[in-house]
Amino acid sequence: MATIALNRPSVRNAQRPAMWAAMAQFLASLDDAVRIVVVRGNGGTFSAGLDLALLDPAQVDQEGSLVAIVQKSDQEIVDQIGDYQQAFALLADPKFISIAAVNGHAIGAGFQLALACDQRIATEDAQFCMKEPALGLVPDLGGTKPLVEAVGYGRALEICASARMVKAAEAHCIGLVQSVVPPHALDDAVTAAVRSLTAHGPSAVRAIKALLQQAPHRGSEEQRLGERMAQVDQLRELATRHR
Ligand code: CAA
Repeated sequence: MATIALNRPSVRNAQRPAMWAAMAQFLASLDDAVRIVVVRGNGGTFSAGLDLALLDPAQVDQEGSLVAIVQKSDQEIVDQIGDYQQAFALLADPKFISIAAVNGHAIGAGFQLALACDQRIATEDAQFCMKEPALGLVPDLGGTKPLVEAVGYGRALEICASARMVKAAEAHCIGLVQSVVPPHALDDAVTAAVRSLTAHGPSAVRAIKALLQQAPHRGSEEQRLGERMAQVDQLRELATRHR
């Protein structure tokens, strides 16, 4: 198991491009033996999202600052955001199952980071908010797709357009989080989830994660073909093990 802990508690784990680059590098370097990646926030908050200092017009020289980024061409901005999205995309790698352990607030980029994970376990005091529209921005770290997949288009639009806080109990009800636990029980809940998600051999679980990821984008026949092809590999592996 590997853990990514956001560690800027004095600014509620506000995120900066350097953190995304470090996360991407870390995730890309993980050994094949790692089956679970847990993402958490130190100090009682998951993450308050983008470091708002980057939107300050005085922050000219900082990497990722609004002032610096708008000097670039449209294509350069698209490419730069593409780099930022890498860490979020890598959390979907079928090699492992990613779990967001969400305590306190998950706002903006923090919400998107939680959404980038396969599973979300939240504390009873957790709150989720897609704050971007309130700042004149769109969620651009890969969060729109998993949000729609988790709660459906209508609810996703309402959550984003209103930029309201979604409390843990509602998040659980609408399928945004898999479980809600008292704050003191978060670590135990993560440990139990890790145990349960790694109870069986990695090969089949990895193949299933890939199949489930592909399911929404494929027709039924294509998905059935995908299942058959994945099963060929599993059957061969099983036979080799029994030899
Ligand atoms: N960036 C920089 N600093 C932040 C921050 C952020 N996103 N969030 C909090 N901080 C700082 C505060 O300025 C404060 O600093 P000082 O101690 O120097 O005053 C410190 O963290 C503590 O903050 P609070 O006193 O507000 O803490 P709280 O526990 O009462 O509230 C909170 C926590 C609800 C998360 C609140 O801090 C908050 O609303 N933060 C702003 C959230 C926000 O708007 N984030 C941007 C989302 S949009 C996005 O992320 C863009 C994108 O994806 C493209």
